[in-house]
Amino acid sequence: MMTTGWSLYVIALVVLNIGGCVWLLWWTARRRPGDPKPEDTSHTWDGDLTEYNKPLPKWWINLFYITIVFAIGYLAWYPGFGNFAGSSGWTSAGEHDAEKARRDKQLEATFGQFAGQPLPQLAANPQAMELGRSIFANTCAACHGSSAQGAAGYPNLTDNTWNWGGQPEQILQTVLDGRQGVMPPLGTVLEGIGGDVAISQTAAYVRALRSEDIEQTLRTDYMAAQGKKFFDNLCVACHGPDGKGNQALGAPDLTAANSLYPRSLDSIRKTITEGRHGIMPAHRELLGETRSRLVAAYVWSLSHPQGAQASTQPQ
Ligand code: HEC
Ligand code: HEC
Repeated sequence: MMTTGWSLYVIALVVLNIGGCVWLLWWTARRRPGDPKPEDTSHTWDGDLTEYNKPLPKWWINLFYITIVFAIGYLAWYPGFGNFAGSSGWTSAGEHDAEKARRDKQLEATFGQFAGQPLPQLAANPQAMELGRSIFANTCAACHGSSAQGAAGYPNLTDNTWNWGGQPEQILQTVLDGRQGVMPPLGTVLEGIGGDVAISQTAAYVRALRSEDIEQTLRTDYMAAQGKKFFDNLCVACHGPDGKGNQALGAPDLTAANSLYPRSLDSIRKTITEGRHGIMPAHRELLGETRSRLVAAYVWSLSHPQGAQASTQPQ
């Protein structure tokens, strides 16, 4: 709503403009006494090419009058004439609210039936999985890839390696509230204890953690064997004594087949010296509870195809 002053100002402008248009039409269209006859002008070229001075045709002028009548009718029906609301009662806010209510109802009808259902149950429901897949494509694929297989720094969601846990409730919590993995930079600390080589030795030990027989590897890999003591000092607090990680902290299992960041010694050195800070954004606000549930169920189903089938079987 405008103040009364502005409202009056707008009303005055509208009246002046419409009045001005009417006057201009009338004034230019009328013939004044003493005007030369239309056919009768002084401008003649090439002997017989004569310029006439005819008024605009009547039907053309009347079109202008019709637009003016339309404008007045419009201002009477819709808001626009200062603070006068128009007799139709239409407002842009009202139209928006009605549209939103309509869409909310549609969403409610589509998603409401799945509210609060356990993830394995949703995973066994083809319609729910169709919705989950499309939510994933729209919301998650940009980071995790359209096939959910991730990329460096973005976890693969189809394997069974979980930094934050692969239980249905854990995945749901990851989606709703997000996760932040904090691997602190430890390069300076390691250099302080054992010099630059300590970083390479620790990295070598991290790589050795994945071998079939770690004892055997340490007997033959001198670097890795040296790295163990640094690991035991600095890393076990989060990654555990056998390097199997800690899901409460999002500290990865370093013995797992897949890793979040590349496996090269360079990349591991970089992780150790500079640290890492992967951020999975929270989706509670964006998607709401039920759609988060649907997409979490879809993610869970990717690594539990049998689980999804099992729950469809009659008990
Ligand atoms: C305070 C807890 C903490 C400590 C101490 C810690 N880490 Fe980490 N580490 C993490 C977390 C959390 C991540 C995951 C980072 C992310 O999500 O971006 C991680 C990630 C890593 C990765 C990458 C794993 C992957 O899947 O790509 C490596 C390698 C690693 N840490 C090695 C080490 C080593 C070696 C040490 C000791 C020198 C160490 N960390 C000490 C918490 C820790
Ligand atoms: C802006 C990028 C981004 C978007 C969008 C995103 N994620 Fe993530 N997500 C990440 C990153 C980065 C991590 C790893 C966090 C860390 O370092 O531990 C992650 C981790 C996860 C994890 C944990 C994996 C594990 O090993 O425990 C799950 C589950 C997950 N995302 C699912 C989703 C789903 C479902 C969506 C869509 C609703 C989504 N993400 C959208 C970036 C994203």
